[in-house]
Amino acid sequence: MPVYFLGKRSRDFMLIRPRFSLLIVLIFVHLAHSQSKPVDAEGHQWWQHAVFYEIYPRSFADSNGDGIGDLNGINSKLDYLKSLGVDAIWITPCFPSPQVDFGYDVSDYENIDPVYGTLGDFSKLEKNGKQHGIRIILDFVINHTSDQHKWFVNSRSSRTAAKRDWYIWRDGNGSQPPNNWVSIFGGPAWTFDARTAQFYYHYFYPQQPDLNWRNPAVHDAMMNVSRWWYKRGVAGFRLDAVDALFEDPQLRDNPVLPGVNKYGDPNEENKYNDKLPEVHDVLRDLRKVADKSGAVLIGETWTKDVAELKQYYGEHSNELQMPMDLMFTELKFSASSFRQHIATVDASGGWPVYVISNHDIVRSYNRYGDGQHNDAIAKVIASLYLTLRGTAIMYYGEELGMENNDPVRKEDVKDPKGRLGWPLDIGRDGERTPMQWNTSPNAGFTAGKPWLPVPASYKTHNVESEQKDPSSILSVYRQVLALRHQNRALLDGDYIALNENDTNVLSYLRRYNNEAVLVVLNMSAQPQQISFDLTAQGFPTKIAHTLMTTMNLDSKNVSLTEISLEPFSVYIGALSR
Ligand code: GLC
Ligand code: CA
Repeated sequence: MPVYFLGKRSRDFMLIRPRFSLLIVLIFVHLAHSQSKPVDAEGHQWWQHAVFYEIYPRSFADSNGDGIGDLNGINSKLDYLKSLGVDAIWITPCFPSPQVDFGYDVSDYENIDPVYGTLGDFSKLEKNGKQHGIRIILDFVINHTSDQHKWFVNSRSSRTAAKRDWYIWRDGNGSQPPNNWVSIFGGPAWTFDARTAQFYYHYFYPQQPDLNWRNPAVHDAMMNVSRWWYKRGVAGFRLDAVDALFEDPQLRDNPVLPGVNKYGDPNEENKYNDKLPEVHDVLRDLRKVADKSGAVLIGETWTKDVAELKQYYGEHSNELQMPMDLMFTELKFSASSFRQHIATVDASGGWPVYVISNHDIVRSYNRYGDGQHNDAIAKVIASLYLTLRGTAIMYYGEELGMENNDPVRKEDVKDPKGRLGWPLDIGRDGERTPMQWNTSPNAGFTAGKPWLPVPASYKTHNVESEQKDPSSILSVYRQVLALRHQNRALLDGDYIALNENDTNVLSYLRRYNNEAVLVVLNMSAQPQQISFDLTAQGFPTKIAHTLMTTMNLDSKNVSLTEISLEPFSVYIGALSR
């Protein structure tokens, strides 16, 4: 079209200019919304069909031998991630940071920490990601900054500093903090700053002062940070610690509960500094900005029940598209507890977001493992969260059956809260150890000395070895992820619970029109016999066609009237009418 216009005489050009600019506007609007186009007949968005994968950049792949993973390291592993079946990676904070909380103390939101690379490396990763069909999600730490951020440096410089009110400063009660709030990482949530003789507030470490979200300038600055990254091709954010954004303006004392916590502080109910209703105003505003770029917002949403989780989607689905169901990580490994929880989540109306692990909690291999059947259990849990209706977020190394490698001596602990809480809270080092790539020293993660030690299990649980073994945990992940991408019923089908009184075997259908997939998970250490009559669900067939199983079955079909299950085993089959 523009070529055609160029051939016109200038008088004509003047006449058609308004139409031309309209065209340009339309092209831009189209581009802006192209990411939010539905990917199927159900109107689902890309993130509803995608599999997300959390990368702790310090620990994924080290490209320059300093013992710390980096962006170039991640870039070198995109082929692996693609072949695994990953569509988006969430990189935990890689911005400039003093690394007190390993990146969750950000000192500049619009740059990359030299330890992880440069903005140029980020662009390379983003471009290469695009070629691989892998989108980049960054971790947006909006509750607090580092105490080294220039905003805080200014804020603490004097009571009349331009950015004084960007943080939460108060006079003490004499020499005591303004109220009884305690930091969730131990000690008081207030630190006295002698220069201006006031206390500042921090929900986390003292090096992580809370931003004052009641100040419109803070609000605008953070919205702009999100715009800045969208322009650089970021497909969305995982929003850190959203519950903690607001504090009671009157700073009332929290109710004190009996006993003390792992750090020796009195237990309290975070009534006045957690989950205040204003959080939702901020989420709506971040969403408006995200929508302009077709981006997705994922939330670190620790909730007590599904009703609370539901609030994060927003009353008009105008807050987070993907609030994480972290309650899922707290369930007991039993058919009944999963069945009950999944039913409630699935019926709640929001698009479910299932997670089994992350950089703050003990790895699922240790949490669910019984010490005897850990590999089999890891395959059961993979087959569960990757076949449910909803989006799954993996944590690096779960696909290998990586286990925690916890420090045994206080002096080895890197996570500050582990030193403060030792030995009751040993910190989070154990779940953050280097990715296990092969059997070479340090599991192929680094040519130098890794920042955290690799567990001995890397000899058997690593990408290279598991790739060669068709029955490895990695092979199960690959198969289930491949199915999940191709199978209409797994992508879009309803979740229908089956045999609901069975306390050992969790079974369900994913049903889409005339197609259905049957998922059967023996969550017990005993062999089980099970049978299905799926007439009421619209599938009077007596046969399932095997799609994936962890058992040695000699036939491609199984009879629904009699399926024999090995202990901790998986059967996934297709049904037809
Ligand atoms: C979130 C992060 C955690 C971090 C904390 C403070 O909970 O997941 O790793 O320490 O926020 O930013
Ligand atoms: Ca490095």
